[in-house]
Amino acid sequence: MCLISKFRNKTFLLLTLLTSGFILFSIGMVNAEEKAQTKIKVDDSSFKCITEMTSVRHFYVDNLLGNLEKTVAVAQAGTGDYPEGTVLQLIPNEVMIKHQKGFSPATRDWEFFYIDVSADGSKIYQRGFANVNNRLGLNCFACHVKAKPEFDFVCEQGHGCDAIPITRAMFGALQRTDPRCKANGPVTAEDIEALNQLGEIVKTLAPKP
Ligand code: HEC
Repeated sequence: MCLISKFRNKTFLLLTLLTSGFILFSIGMVNAEEKAQTKIKVDDSSFKCITEMTSVRHFYVDNLLGNLEKTVAVAQAGTGDYPEGTVLQLIPNEVMIKHQKGFSPATRDWEFFYIDVSADGSKIYQRGFANVNNRLGLNCFACHVKAKPEFDFVCEQGHGCDAIPITRAMFGALQRTDPRCKANGPVTAEDIEALNQLGEIVKTLAPKP
């Protein structure tokens, strides 16, 4: 009688230990998974007026984890891996954000965003990795993956991406007329001209229905 109850007690103890071990292990797994998904949280409020970001050459950078210094250093060097949290923008609607290492190996941890912008702020229209297209229906990843490895998906010019028929004057005009910015000056005649030319080019680039 005594022996049986001892045995039962032991079995019970063992089972309890195993179960609680399993529960702790599962919680650990879930936490690790959640961490992997949420280290860099991005929502509509993550984006801001492009000219309030830090300007490097002709584009703008930021860092959602506060590591702006490292981001600016890589941008200024023009080569090397951007740190996690990096935000890159050339025009108001298109954004690249770097997640933590290993998050999306195929895109070197970059997430692509196509956002809508207005005086009310930013709204994510599309986000993702190899599946995001710009307003012309062209795939972000397909172009940016052509940058040589040392440029970490950044196209600029001469980095290996196919050239696009959009000039720096046009990019500049789009930046200076970002509707989210409170401090935009009056639009110059040059910028109006550049935006008109861009309109014509966009018509030729848009996929035919
Ligand atoms: C047709 C090819 C093409 C597509 C599609 C494309 N890009 Fe680009 N992107 C470029 C090129 C080329 C540049 C460099 C332009 C320059 O500096 O003159 C560029 C520049 C950029 C930059 C500035 C940093 C850099 O790489 O020079 C960002 C950020 C960016 N694109 C994000 C996006 C996002 C987000 C999408 C999709 C919503 C997208 N791009 C779609 C070709 C493309």
